[in-house]
Amino acid sequence: MKALILSGGSGTRLRPLTFSQQKQLIPIANKPVLFYAIEDVIEAGADEIGIILGPNKEQVIDTVESRSWGVPIEFIYQGNPKGLAHAILVAKEFLDDDFIMYLGDNILRDGIVQHKERFQRLKSDASVLLTRVEDPQRFGVADLNPDGSIRKLVEKPKVPPSNYALVGVYFFRPSIIEACSAIKPSWRDELEITDAIQWLIEQGYKVDASLVEGWWKDTGKPEDILEANRLILDDISACNEGQINESHVIGRVIIEKGSLIERSTIKGPCIIGKGSVISDSYIGPYTSVGDDCRIFGTELEDTIIMDNSTINKAGKIVESMIGRNVRIREGIALPKGNRFIVGDNSDISL
Ligand code: TTP
Repeated sequence: MKALILSGGSGTRLRPLTFSQQKQLIPIANKPVLFYAIEDVIEAGADEIGIILGPNKEQVIDTVESRSWGVPIEFIYQGNPKGLAHAILVAKEFLDDDFIMYLGDNILRDGIVQHKERFQRLKSDASVLLTRVEDPQRFGVADLNPDGSIRKLVEKPKVPPSNYALVGVYFFRPSIIEACSAIKPSWRDELEITDAIQWLIEQGYKVDASLVEGWWKDTGKPEDILEANRLILDDISACNEGQINESHVIGRVIIEKGSLIERSTIKGPCIIGKGSVISDSYIGPYTSVGDDCRIFGTELEDTIIMDNSTINKAGKIVESMIGRNVRIREGIALPKGNRFIVGDNSDISL
């Protein structure tokens, strides 16, 4: 079985981070979101992976190639994001076998092995992953037949036919290519995967559903990324490969190689990346500090700090996402006051 992982799209809801960074590369517990998807499809037995690329294609290629995965990976350039079904059409030469389609900004706690086995056991023509949600109006929702197969899929319904929302993982056979070719762009000018699946159903193909019981997160918005970071950190085990001087390390904390913690308190679950220095600071639960960061005289809690950033005497920072190469420091010059050099679409609460 092959896997197609979607790492294109424009990530407008994550600006300004996505002006310079493809959203699937944003780190969750210091690992790009995309890597969780790659690991899941490999665990499920994918023997070849195609990765769909969008605007920032070089950084996705460089990041993926910084690791060896043990299965061949082909990069497929989509260009402008014209929809999930469009991504399948762009990859049609690659998709000559049954395949898993995995949206590269999704994370599932329990992986997809059991769903792949179910798809192969039931021999259905396609299978979609569903999960129960409280607010189905915000999602693509499935209307189910009594035998659990899909009758209809509806996008963000005002009156939802069920509480089962579509998770961004699908199992297809090459028949989906014909479906994607047969449909027309939607009102938002995208080729929608829900329309292609609906086409399969109307042509008499059997589309099955598989229920996700563990947590699932679509990391499309900043609050989703912070939540995914909490969920992943909730499952870590303590591991210290750094140096700790005159500090308290409490609970499950990962301190990676070459990091130095001095005169500080670190309260897990949290992770400190490679080569970072934490001095005279408090790092509280659900914080991920990337590689080569400098945190001096600051309190952090429930926050993601990406690689190479320096935070110096910045008071207390909570529920924040701070990009790469950022500098935040106490202002000493007069006049006193907050000084900002902030890019477009930033979001600041004082
Ligand atoms: P979305 O989150 O729906 O779209 P987006 O990435 O453009 O984000 P935003 O709405 O904030 O602008 O996309 C779901 C996933 O599919 C995500 O991982 C990006 C990927 N994708 C593609 O690879 N190609 C596409 O044409 C589209 C629409 C999405």
